[in-house]
Amino acid sequence: MPRAHATLISRERVTEGHYLLTLDCAEVAQNARPGQFVHLRVGDGTDPLLRRPLSIMLSQPDRREVQILVRTVGRGTGIVATHDEGTRYDLLGPLGSGWSIPQGDEPVLLVAGGIGVAPLIFLADSTRMADPQPYVRAIFGGLTTESLVCWTEFAARCDEFIAVTEDGSTGETGLVTDVLAPELDRDPPVRVYACGPDGMLAAVARICAEAGVPCEVSMEQWMGCGVGACLGCAIPSSAGGYVRVCTEGPVFDATQIDWERLMSR
Ligand SMILES: Cc1cc2nc3c(=O)[nH]c(=O)nc-3n(C[C@H](O)[C@H](O)[C@H](O)COP(=O)(O)OP(=O)(O)OC[C@H]3O[C@@H](n4cnc5c(N)ncnc54)[C@H](O)[C@@H]3O)c2cc1C
Ligand code: FES
Repeated sequence: MPRAHATLISRERVTEGHYLLTLDCAEVAQNARPGQFVHLRVGDGTDPLLRRPLSIMLSQPDRREVQILVRTVGRGTGIVATHDEGTRYDLLGPLGSGWSIPQGDEPVLLVAGGIGVAPLIFLADSTRMADPQPYVRAIFGGLTTESLVCWTEFAARCDEFIAVTEDGSTGETGLVTDVLAPELDRDPPVRVYACGPDGMLAAVARICAEAGVPCEVSMEQWMGCGVGACLGCAIPSSAGGYVRVCTEGPVFDATQIDWERLMSR
């Protein structure tokens, strides 16, 4: 199990309840692939007892740096939001499967909802170094403008970018899925990559299946061990039984998930 230590270089408040952490961690920076995550011990001792999974948003091996975007939702992420520069972390990572990396110059479409933008920024960033470069289109949705966290970092790495907000405060009004179907019709990409809440991913998976476009999804799930031992992160598989988000995922081909069973839990 890849265990490492990291030092917090900076913690920047991005919007209300969202923080961008820059960590000094050579082991993760040198080995991370887009779509992978770290499993971070956020406190000393046993409070909280379990590590917290967080996606790698960017990795700069030459500077030994890794960036992580944190949305505060509870005890663990709340603690991280108070940490000062120089805080030392014990972490596992990089963990999990990554996105399949686009090959050639064909168009791909990235679909992000809220904090789900983090692993897609890493994917978009990695395509910038590819030769030939894929043509990257993106749809980024949220409740309000404030929910479009780090949208400038995302847009800067894409060739085309559509923002969507439910309240219409930025970009188009509605849900990312309202924009997705017409985008697939207009110019079908070779693959869709999506990360966001389960309901959004279920809808993206259905729309892509109807359009015959391959789709990968990155799943968020409560985690215990993070390394395949506790089954705490298991989600229903379309093959019957369950798949573990921490080891078989977090990135899955959308057809691997039993969306009906997942959404009825
Ligand atoms: C592979 C993966 C990558 C992730 N990447 C990021 C990321 O880049 N940035 C980020 O901010 N968050 C990310 N998350 C979600 C993050 O791990 C949880 O928000 C965090 O563990 C919550 O811890 P907490 O102690 O603050 O909240 P808790 O006090 O444990 O819980 C607060 C609320 O959040 C819910 N919750 C807890 N864990 C999860 C979870 N894993 N998924 C969904 N809901 C959860 C609980 O049910 C509860 O309602 C990721 C999760 C996974 C599995
Ligand atoms: S978190 Fe323990 S098996 Fe995935």
